[in-house]
Amino acid sequence: ADEPLVLGIETSCDETGVGIVRGHTLLADAIASSVDEHARFGGVVPEVASRAHLEAMVPTIERALRDAGVAASDLDAVAVTAGPGLAGALLVGVSAAKAYAYALGKPLYGVNHLASHICVDQLEHGALPEPTMALLVSGGHSSLLLAPDITADVRPLGSTIDDAAGEAFDKVARVLNLGFPGGPVIDRYAREGNPEAIAFPRGLTGPRDAPYDFSFSGLKTAVARWIEAKRNAGEEVPVRDVSASFQEAVTDVLTRKAIRACKDEGVSHLMIGGGVAANSRLRAMAEERCADAGIELRVPRPKLCTDNGAMVAALGAEMVARRRAASDWDLPADSSLPV
Ligand code: KG4
Ligand code: ZN
Repeated sequence: ADEPLVLGIETSCDETGVGIVRGHTLLADAIASSVDEHARFGGVVPEVASRAHLEAMVPTIERALRDAGVAASDLDAVAVTAGPGLAGALLVGVSAAKAYAYALGKPLYGVNHLASHICVDQLEHGALPEPTMALLVSGGHSSLLLAPDITADVRPLGSTIDDAAGEAFDKVARVLNLGFPGGPVIDRYAREGNPEAIAFPRGLTGPRDAPYDFSFSGLKTAVARWIEAKRNAGEEVPVRDVSASFQEAVTDVLTRKAIRACKDEGVSHLMIGGGVAANSRLRAMAEERCADAGIELRVPRPKLCTDNGAMVAALGAEMVARRRAASDWDLPADSSLPV
């Protein structure tokens, strides 16, 4: 039988993403980002994001259909991020998806943003082994999730109790005056720095701490204090060493806890997704430590790790393939949708 042809819409944050997949095959991944409009505020401004989604929605859908070379009438379903995310931003995508699906006479599938960050790996490495352990790290979330069934059963094992990993990258970059978003810049500087130059704290790694929860706010503060002390002493801040040492602290904790979760749960596959999965040190460290632990690592290419529409289409296609029930036409946008 033919694999389902699905269009997916993602508008949970600042990227208007429209992707088209056929089963596990990526056909189009159109994206319009409002990141430049947020840069001067040092973070995503919800109202600005909503308006940008509204302007970009229809052109991005049209571009995706053109890129994929398919007619809208050939689609088997329309999938959309129903949550979690920014309420107003989600609403734009959900409304557009309803309108398209209804007008085309196709079923609508509301999907969870976190689950689709995991499912996107099918477009890179084929069918996701189940159960899979997933480490999702972005500007909005840092979670360990166990996925026995990506379409129906994704269990949160732990998450950050304060800042998300990407948020920590962004805040440290801000203190270093490196601009927004900070992750890619710190990644670049860190390559020329010494990761052992400064011993920054590893949050929540004590024997009595929650094994799968994360905390990056103490680390961020420690880095800011260290920089301030240097500046007060009239010394130059070694941006490369600070970047490398900070990045080492984050990636050390992330990989340690993810591998521990795999061992505790007897899971042999780890996927890493979300914007921070683009980090080169995280990738290298995870590769090394997973190899040592006998765990198979799956990390999609960076473009599929950051928010995009293809991941929504991938999960939608999986739901169609597994004959899951479609959503009702009154599908709500739920900013705090649980997995
Ligand atoms: O998944 P994403 O595009 O959007 C959210 O859902 O947040 O992730 C964006 C986050 C930002 O905080 C950004 O600084 C971080 O991912 N990021 C990185 C890298 N590339 C993006 N963090 C570390 N290293 C990178 N190479
Ligand atoms: Zn995301």
